[in-house]
Amino acid sequence: MRDVRVQELSSHDGEQVRLKGWVYNLRGKGKLLFLLLRDGSGICQCVVLKNELGEEAFQVAKGLTQESSLQVTGTVKLDERAPGGAELKVDGIEVVQIAEPYPITKKEHGPGFLLDHRHLWLRSKRQMALMRLRHRVVQSFRDFLDGEGFLCVDSPIFTPNACEGTSTLFETDYFGERAYLSQSGQLYAEASAMALGRVYCFGPTFRAEKSKTRRHLTEFWMLEPEMAFADLDDVCDLAEGMLRHTISQVLERNAQDLADLEQDPARLEGWNRAFPRLPYDDAAQLLLQWKAEGKYESDFEPGDDLGAPDESMLGEHYGCPVMVTHWPAAVKAFYMKRDEQGRALGVDIIAPTAGEIVGGAVREDDHDVLLQRIQEHQLPVEAFQWYLDLRRFGSVPHGGFGIGVERTVSWLSGVEHVRECIPFPRTIQRLSP
Ligand code: 4AD
Ligand code: MG
Repeated sequence: MRDVRVQELSSHDGEQVRLKGWVYNLRGKGKLLFLLLRDGSGICQCVVLKNELGEEAFQVAKGLTQESSLQVTGTVKLDERAPGGAELKVDGIEVVQIAEPYPITKKEHGPGFLLDHRHLWLRSKRQMALMRLRHRVVQSFRDFLDGEGFLCVDSPIFTPNACEGTSTLFETDYFGERAYLSQSGQLYAEASAMALGRVYCFGPTFRAEKSKTRRHLTEFWMLEPEMAFADLDDVCDLAEGMLRHTISQVLERNAQDLADLEQDPARLEGWNRAFPRLPYDDAAQLLLQWKAEGKYESDFEPGDDLGAPDESMLGEHYGCPVMVTHWPAAVKAFYMKRDEQGRALGVDIIAPTAGEIVGGAVREDDHDVLLQRIQEHQLPVEAFQWYLDLRRFGSVPHGGFGIGVERTVSWLSGVEHVRECIPFPRTIQRLSP
């Protein structure tokens, strides 16, 4: 007997095969049952006829509960009306386990209940689609960078110093010494880039964010490319290339998932174009104008960081990701290089509905200037000596960016809250399951 997965069924027309999975749904009457079986790769309609199966086995099938595990054998029949394009005419059923009454049913459940049952909620159609999309996003990022000659060189998670400001650090006791969970692998990626030229690190990062917004997690996954000999245009080009490659891949390979998420592929197609690039000052002018015209409400003033309403307005206006560059230094991190006008050579990419998905910059490469910045930010110079070394031994212009996986998935899927875009979310209010 040939074991196949649901996603392969359509290439086995007329063959007898075995599927292994769980009951997604069961309905029917009299001598006919429609069993929706999911196996992780898809959902297959299995047609169970009493005449085919015999009385005893048919009764077993009728007693299957939602999420019971089983193996079914049968003949594949191509059918355009069936989800996935094929159904199975069942001739045998072997029960693995009869599930207890399943807590997640067809009725509406509140987000709190679903999050408490996240370990089971993951089996829902929309959640499975999100996890597949997440997989594709990560794969596309990595494939794109691979094609551009980047190497994956990971950064540590236990760190002695801050990268993105000291207010969001998670502190741990490291054998009697103070250590922090990494907020970003960037500083180490810079060291790796000075060794290998083009690198990226990828891993979980931690922020003790007090914010309870739909865009903030306390633990999120970030991919951070870093390039030696790069300026701001190089950083922007790399980010745009990577995101456009990702959009294409999702459109090409995740059509069913987009459908399950009720996300129109035309929206994604519309985003796959050159991203507008505008200096912060121009963005600020536009925002002030829109405020004056009553197009949106915000307490934004020039010089401020962008807030959620400002990002939403920009994303909505352009209808595709926008790159905001040349920031007021006061709202950006200590390591950013500045231009002659004192503006930080950073870039944020703002995506429609999801807000900021990318934060990047050219790094300060002069030893003395960087030392001064570290002091101005009241960071412990001693802990940054190794980082300053990079400016003492063959310092070069360099830069990179960080992209949050969950925000990217939220953007591409149209799912509002990042907590659905990671298997087991960690937020200010949630540490379990
Ligand atoms: O803008 P951020 O803070 O930049 C850095 O950490 C740089 N060191 C990256 C670099 O240049 N290598 O964070 C980068 C991205 C954000 O644009 C966002 O997508 C994501 O990380 N991010 C979060 N995602 C979920 N929850 C949070 N609390 C996040 N904070 C940042
Ligand atoms: Mg940022």
